[in-house]
Amino acid sequence: MIPSKIDNVANPDWWRGAIIYQIYPRSYQDSNGDGIGDLLGIVSRIPYIASLGVDAIWISPFFTSPMKDFGYDVSDYCDVDPMFGTLADFDAVVDTAHRFGIRVMIDLVLSHTSDQHPWFRESVQSRENPKADWFVWADPKPDGTPPNNWLSIFGGSGWQWSPRREQYYQHNFLTSQPDLNFHNMEVHEALLDVATFWLHRGVDGFRLDTINFYTCDKDLRDNPGLPKDLRNATIAPAVNPYNHQEHIYDKNRPENLEFLRKLRAVMQPYGAAAVGEVGDAQRGLEIMGEYTRGDDLMQMCYAFEFLSDTQPTAARIVKVMQDVDRVASDGWACWAFSNHDVMRHATRWNLSTGAQRMFITLIMALRGSVCIYQGEELGLPEAQLRFEDLQDPYGIEFWPEFKGRDGCRTPMVWDAEAQNAGFSSAARTWLPIGEAHRELAVTAQETDPSALLHHYRKAIHFRHNHAALRVGSHDGLKSDGDVIYFTRETEGEKLFCVFNVSDSPSSFQMPNGDWRSIGQELGSATINVDGWLHLGPWQACVALDRAY
Ligand code: BGC
Ligand code: MG
Repeated sequence: MIPSKIDNVANPDWWRGAIIYQIYPRSYQDSNGDGIGDLLGIVSRIPYIASLGVDAIWISPFFTSPMKDFGYDVSDYCDVDPMFGTLADFDAVVDTAHRFGIRVMIDLVLSHTSDQHPWFRESVQSRENPKADWFVWADPKPDGTPPNNWLSIFGGSGWQWSPRREQYYQHNFLTSQPDLNFHNMEVHEALLDVATFWLHRGVDGFRLDTINFYTCDKDLRDNPGLPKDLRNATIAPAVNPYNHQEHIYDKNRPENLEFLRKLRAVMQPYGAAAVGEVGDAQRGLEIMGEYTRGDDLMQMCYAFEFLSDTQPTAARIVKVMQDVDRVASDGWACWAFSNHDVMRHATRWNLSTGAQRMFITLIMALRGSVCIYQGEELGLPEAQLRFEDLQDPYGIEFWPEFKGRDGCRTPMVWDAEAQNAGFSSAARTWLPIGEAHRELAVTAQETDPSALLHHYRKAIHFRHNHAALRVGSHDGLKSDGDVIYFTRETEGEKLFCVFNVSDSPSSFQMPNGDWRSIGQELGSATINVDGWLHLGPWQACVALDRAY
């Protein structure tokens, strides 16, 4: 056996500037012909993942679950759902990934459990049992209505009545996802044990689901309403009244930090790293700053800024990065354009292949770490599904104004010619293969040197070759019309990056200096002798300071 190439203790900063490939296990590769992706399927695709050059994988939940929210409703944190395999299969994922030099991050959903979790099943029994206070329970108002105005992201009240306890319990998501009570220190201990269980099994880190939702206000105060002009839909779609509140009491509480500190202490001896998902439409970056400051909290937070409905303009990208400097200058962001919760960005922003190339080159040049969502490297558009095909309760609730998250969760396409595009040998897969996806399958792109897949590999490789992009400072962020430019610098290397965020050509005068355009394999523009750059549509230029 080839020895593992991973040593996190010797290299505890491994996550800085890392490229993390997100796997949605239901849809990556099916190994047993049941139409659902699984852990052994992932094992078989690790050579492909390694060929992308990514540093780590983040695997969406594969724990025991009734699958009401497709694994984000966990009924046993320390076991694998039979649908996905066994703990031994998980060990095989870790061993294989490590042999290929890829780190493994798992998705811990600690804010809530499934209502089938033994902790909740006990809690719901009475107001006195040992787990009675492990979830957020509250008496009704005198008129029988819920204790306050908190809403569920997935629709309706954030409270569900329990006839047995004659009380309400809180749920930020489905009624079958009761929220744990983080004011109870036994809950902290139990969740820290979960983290230890997986660290001990060899994981390198965590993606932490809804990290800012952990604690709610002890006094259960009403959230204030949010004026229409301040609403923004990066967390919940515009049609969702969840967007009509300022979420200062149901989430974002200062007590979260206490738990995060304990979690970091548990991770420390392993050199493990975490990326916390911060879902907040108003204060996302600020919270990121709070949670990633110093070295006793989280290493990274997952930012929603580039998951926006509309395509970010040059000015918007500069604004985001300047905001990061303002509210999170010593923190660390993890950027993404796509994931399992939003419409794929090729469709969401209606991007040409040229634009997709520019955006991935750009994200590789931004300060922060990066998540790439499976299939993004193929340029997959959102799959168009019929209502009858829907699986996601979120889409079923808000259809057709919001179609839910199934369109970005359809199976990965491996082989244009094969049954189910090589995903599964089943007669029927859990979601259909996207019609327009087949011709973009991996096999089709491998043989075409101009395909997007190769550009992704080169962009990833490019970042790896330039420490300034991975860990350097960023300075002088500005936009000029559709062009964005900035400097990345670290000891021994200084780069000047210019991006044309538009489909029309642009010219740009380089600052004084001895610049050499690099990254020709990415289509980086050449600099004229007079210092002018003539950028084609969506073209970039990365230039190295030769005098450095
Ligand atoms: C996950 C979603 C999930 C929700 C509830 C998230 O933000 O990414 O897929 O539905 O948390 O766990
Ligand atoms: Mg399977």
